Amino acid sequence: MANLKVKALGVEFKNPILVGSASPSMDWVGVKKGIDGGAAGVIVKSLFGEKAKLGRSFPRPRYKIYDYKNYPGYPEVLPHAFTLNSLEECSHFGYEDYMKDVDKAKAAVGNDGNVMASLSGATMEEWETMCKMVNETKADWVELNVSCPFAADMGVKIGAGAVELLPQITKLCAGILRKPFSVKVSPQTQNPVDIAEACVKAGARAVNMSARLSGYDLDIETARPLGPGAQGGWGGPYLIGYGLKFVAQAARRLDVPIIAGLGVWDWRDIIKYTMVGATLVQSGVGIMLQGYNVSKKWADNINLWLDNKGYSSLDEIRGIALPNILKTAEVERRPEGVYATVDYNKCNHCGTCVRSCFYDAIHVTKMGAVVNSKKCDGCGMCVEVCPQDAVKLSSPQRRAK
Ligand SMILES: Cc1cc2nc3c(=O)[nH]c(=O)nc-3n(C[C@H](O)[C@H](O)[C@H](O)COP(=O)(O)O)c2cc1C
Repeated sequence: MANLKVKALGVEFKNPILVGSASPSMDWVGVKKGIDGGAAGVIVKSLFGEKAKLGRSFPRPRYKIYDYKNYPGYPEVLPHAFTLNSLEECSHFGYEDYMKDVDKAKAAVGNDGNVMASLSGATMEEWETMCKMVNETKADWVELNVSCPFAADMGVKIGAGAVELLPQITKLCAGILRKPFSVKVSPQTQNPVDIAEACVKAGARAVNMSARLSGYDLDIETARPLGPGAQGGWGGPYLIGYGLKFVAQAARRLDVPIIAGLGVWDWRDIIKYTMVGATLVQSGVGIMLQGYNVSKKWADNINLWLDNKGYSSLDEIRGIALPNILKTAEVERRPEGVYATVDYNKCNHCGTCVRSCFYDAIHVTKMGAVVNSKKCDGCGMCVEVCPQDAVKLSSPQRRAK
C-alpha cells in the first residue's frame, strides 16, 4: 500500500484531502463528519470580523446549480462540468462561540484529523483580536481567508476586496499567531501568484490557491439575477484548469506548502494538483454534492493508482508535471501531415463536423464525411465534436531538427 501521508509545517495529515471551508464545515458536527468521511483535515467555515457580521445571517435559498440535474443519467451519473452559484458568507458564530466550536471539533476528532480554523477580518484590529483568540484554541492550523469572492460587496474591506492589503495582514498575523498558518489568496486579482509571493515575503508559511470567482446568471423574463439576486461565489469542476495553472505557477515560484483545490470533482483531480506541486488538496463543491464519505473513496482510489504505477508515496509525484507544461512560445507550430481522417464504419453522416469546420474542408457524401486534406488545417475541432468518434487526426510528421 502506498503511503498517502503528507506533512506540512510540521503537521501530519493522514492523506492530502481537506474538506474546504464551506457549508460542510459550518460547525463541529460537520468537522467530525468530514474527518469520519476520510478527510485528513477540515478547514472550518470562516469567521468574519464584527464589521462584516451581516454575513453571519445567510440568504435563503442561497444555492443555485446550473447544468447539473439535467445531465443524462443523473443522479447515478454526475456531470463533470457545472456551476455552483452560492451566497453563503461566513460562519454564523460570533468570535467567542466560534473559538468554542473549534475546541469542540478538536475534542471530537482527536488525533484522527486536523481542525483548521479560518479567519477573515475587515480591519487590522479585527485581525489582531481574532488571531489572539485563535491562539488560545486547540486548532491545529489557522487559515487567513482574504479571498471571499463577494464579501467586499457588503461594503467593508474584506475578502477579495482587500487583496492589496494581504501582505500587510499577513505580516500582522504572522507576528501574533503561534500556530501553523496558511493565507488563502483570491484568484480575482491581476496576478494571484504575485500576491501569494508578497504574502510569503510578509511571513505566510503556506498558501491556499483555491478560492472561487464571483458572478451571477440572469433570468431574461424578469431581467433579474437568478438565485439570491446579488453576486455570489461562482465555481464548480469546470474551474479546475484555472486552479491547476495558478498552483503550477505558485509551485515554481514559492518555497512553501501549497493548498490547492479549485474544482476538485474526483480522485484524479487530487493527483493532478499533486503533480503540479500541491501538498494538500481541498474540496468544497465535491464534498457538498457527493457527501462527506467521498473522501474515503478518493483516498482508496489514489492509493490503488499509486500502487499500480509503482509509486510508494505522494512525494514521488509531487511536481512531476511541472517540466512538461510548456510556455506558449514553446508549443510546436504547424507540424506537417496533420489532417483529419474518417472511419466510415463509424461515421453516420450527421454533419456535426461540417458545421464546426472553418476551413471548408469537410463535406458529407453518401459514403460519409469526406475531408479535403489540402484544405484541412489539422485544427482538431472535428475530432472533438464528432458524436461517433469517427474522426482522427493523422500523426504529424515531425520536421528534422
Ligand atoms: C457554499 C460555499 C461556501 C463557502 N464558504 C467559504 C468560507 O466561509 N471561507 C472560505 O475560505 N471559503 C469558502 N468557500 C470556498 C471553498 O472553501 C473553496 O475554496 C472553493 O469552494 C473552491 O473549491 P471547490 O471547487 O472544491 O468548491 C465556500 C464555497 C462554497 C461553495
